[in-house]
Amino acid sequence: MADPHIPADGLSRTALYTAWVRAAETDLFTDPLAGHLLRELGDHEGLASFVEQMRSSANGFATYHLVRTRYFDDRLGEAFAAGVRQVVTLAAGIDGRPARLPCPPGTRWFELDLPAMTEFKTALLARSGLRLSCDRAGVAADLTTDWANPLRQAGFTSSRPTAWLVEGVLMYLTPSQGDALLDAVTALSAPGSHLFLEHLQASMLGSRGSRVREGLKKQEVVFAAGRDDIADWLGAAGWRAEVHAGDDPAIGHGRSVAPVPAAWLASGRLAGGTAPGR
Ligand SMILES: C[S@@+](CC[C@H](N)C(=O)[O-])C[C@H]1O[C@@H](n2cnc3c(N)ncnc32)[C@H](O)[C@@H]1O
Repeated sequence: MADPHIPADGLSRTALYTAWVRAAETDLFTDPLAGHLLRELGDHEGLASFVEQMRSSANGFATYHLVRTRYFDDRLGEAFAAGVRQVVTLAAGIDGRPARLPCPPGTRWFELDLPAMTEFKTALLARSGLRLSCDRAGVAADLTTDWANPLRQAGFTSSRPTAWLVEGVLMYLTPSQGDALLDAVTALSAPGSHLFLEHLQASMLGSRGSRVREGLKKQEVVFAAGRDDIADWLGAAGWRAEVHAGDDPAIGHGRSVAPVPAAWLASGRLAGGTAPGR
């Protein structure tokens, strides 16, 4: 096996865990890139124990991640159907969507993550031999600093409607970093843009989430934010959003998600087609 240079920090490894879970799914979706990752690293001792630790930190973790994945797959399909041809995934991790979703011709897909993860993912994709139906660009950037410029330099065009995907990251940023991320996304969004995001329910920062937090802490992963005013938060930035609890049967496709981890899944459109002040 090639030296895969696995990103070492705990948060990057949660992306590997998510891929591990997705690799086993055959009904809600199939994820060939995750399958490839598992074939390469399935016997990696450190990773296997990390995955087990994540699994045991909350009974509902795996099913929730599968339902979450399918929820955003469905939303991206709607954005494509509405004519969107530019996608940006923030904190993309090992998400295999650019290699597994059927993208309309001409789709550009930007996957932004920290440099080590971006390098790892790009090399993994190349080794997988998977054919992509979109034109993908990996963008090495830090969401807590200026990430808009690296995104533009990679070819992102703010005058084109964009589908933004923010999955598995807002809970690891501070509230002010989350606000700054939303402001930047809004400023970069043309009329017709879509915003799909996940956030943690506030109760996960209290006693309801203590077991999950203890499990994550052993991997040096810390929840930094959670909130319950998602529709208002997005609305104040100019997005009209529909929000579901992660365990809402309406989005479960027949899967039953445990109450913990408790999260929100949101799908927004720019209200009136444009961001305020633009
Ligand atoms: C839980 S994973 C989620 C990955 C992917 N969105 C998914 O759902 O499969 C968190 C990701 O956030 C990335 N990340 C963490 N902090 C970041 C930052 N400051 N800037 C960019 N990416 C970051 C990590 O590298 C990791 O890939």
